[in-house]
Amino acid sequence: MPKLTVENAGTFDVPENKRLVNALSDEAKIDQLHACGGQARCTTCRVQFISGEPEAMTEAEKSVLELRNLLSMPGVRLSCQILCDHDMTVRAISRLAGSGRADAGKRPNDAIEPPPVWTGKN
Ligand code: FES
Repeated sequence: MPKLTVENAGTFDVPENKRLVNALSDEAKIDQLHACGGQARCTTCRVQFISGEPEAMTEAEKSVLELRNLLSMPGVRLSCQILCDHDMTVRAISRLAGSGRADAGKRPNDAIEPPPVWTGKN
C-alpha cells in the first residue's frame, strides 16, 4: 500500500492506484480544491511534490500545465492526473480554505479523466 505524506498533515496509507486528488480528500482529509471535478481543466487540484514526483504525466495534464505556465514550476502537478502507485510527499498548495470558493468542486470519479494517454514531463 503506497504511503502519501502531506506536509503538516501526516502520512497516510492509500489504496494502490487511487487518484491522488481523492486520496488527499479521503485519506489525508485535506480540503483540496478540484473545481473541474478532475477533468484536467482547472488546475485547482495542483500540489507541489517534495519527493516521489511521478515521471509519467498524462497528455491532458501536460497541455493544461503548459497553457497556464505551470509546467516549469518545480514539482507542481495536477493531483487529478496522478495515481498513488508509489510513496510520495506533497505540499497542499491549493485548498478550499482561503480560496473564496463555495466548495471544493464535484468529487472526481475513481478513474482518471479524460482517459489517460501517458507521456513524460519533458
Ligand atoms: S484540473 Fe481540475 S480537478 Fe484537476
